Amino acid sequence: MKALRIIDTDDGPRGRLDEIEQSALTEGNVIIKARYSSLNYKDALAITGAGKIARQRPLNAGIDVAGVVESSDDDRFACGDEVLVTGWLLSETRDGGLAEYVRVPADCVTRLPAGLTLWESMALGTAGFTAAMAIKRMRDNFQRPEQGPILVTGAAGGVGNFAIEMLAQAGFAPIAVTRRVEAQGEWLSELGATDVIAPETLDLGGRPMGSESYGGAIDALGGSVLADMLGQIVQFGNVAAIGLAASPKLDTMVLPFILRGVSLLGINSVECPSQWRAAIWSDLAAELKPAHLDQIAAQTIGLDQVHDVCDAIIAGEHAGRTVVEIAR
Ligand SMILES: NC(=O)c1ccc[n+]([C@@H]2O[C@H](COP(=O)([O-])OP(=O)(O)OC[C@H]3O[C@@H](n4cnc5c(N)ncnc54)[C@H](OP(=O)(O)O)[C@@H]3O)[C@@H](O)[C@H]2O)c1
Repeated sequence: MKALRIIDTDDGPRGRLDEIEQSALTEGNVIIKARYSSLNYKDALAITGAGKIARQRPLNAGIDVAGVVESSDDDRFACGDEVLVTGWLLSETRDGGLAEYVRVPADCVTRLPAGLTLWESMALGTAGFTAAMAIKRMRDNFQRPEQGPILVTGAAGGVGNFAIEMLAQAGFAPIAVTRRVEAQGEWLSELGATDVIAPETLDLGGRPMGSESYGGAIDALGGSVLADMLGQIVQFGNVAAIGLAASPKLDTMVLPFILRGVSLLGINSVECPSQWRAAIWSDLAAELKPAHLDQIAAQTIGLDQVHDVCDAIIAGEHAGRTVVEIAR
């Protein structure tokens, strides 16, 4: 079987297209014949070597996969079922989805929800799941549209595009924060952004508490942008931390938390509990299914084009989402 494998080279871990035996796949009781995967920031880190994602090597890359059950030792799944897997340590300690077959424990497998095709599930993939998980956690913690607009940083990326459109569909007013205001502004407005601004606009010059300007935020950047925005959130607003594209550091004060009741919500899509997953995927197949899904995921490529797209992701030149077709 064909697989894009993370292997150790003299320059560190890198992705390489290879042929392997299906029997060599990491352990599991469900084998999925892959139809589609997708490319996320984390895949680009793993494949280019810009970040160490695969904790054991060689290991098949790809944190997402959708396909058809080839065989199953578990009562919950039968041969021919359409299923998907996102996260669950694929490409970290388990062979991932950029391969013709994927073997995983049944607990990692989600049945394709009614309302989504296999392609659509990977157009969404971890990026869509993460945006929907952030919105779920915010709404579960009483976020309401009346509290004011929601900042979305890294807006031109996959999670960012989805967060903008899903928030708009759920009745919120998303504000897109992007370094690419010129190039992406019009598109982000079409997705539902009520405003498009550059990250520098959020700089408070180091003041820990500013005016209560925003209802909440979904943040992909971390660092000073996250610290600054915490001081501008209204009473009992929520900030969902999803990424560290700018910095893993967070230098802040407790004032927004204790004086305004602001909540900082952690988003871990990889090990999200199964019960939450089912609820999030049914949101994704219905209310939160992005109206512009086909345009956000405008590109479907083959395994042999993955390297080029990963380079563009790391260079910050990639917008929206790319689906990878593994087999027809
Ligand atoms: N917590 C989780 O479970 C989870 C799940 C999925 C993704 N993530 C994280 O969420 C982030 C977005 O993921 P993605 O798949 O949507 O990636 P993506 O499509 O590559 O988008 C990343 C976006 O982040 C911004 N960005 C990248 N490097 C930056 C830098 N150095 N400084 C400022 N902004 C930068 C860019 O937005 P602009 O061009 O608009 O400025 C870029 O488009 C990543 O950090 C990823 O690791 C976390």
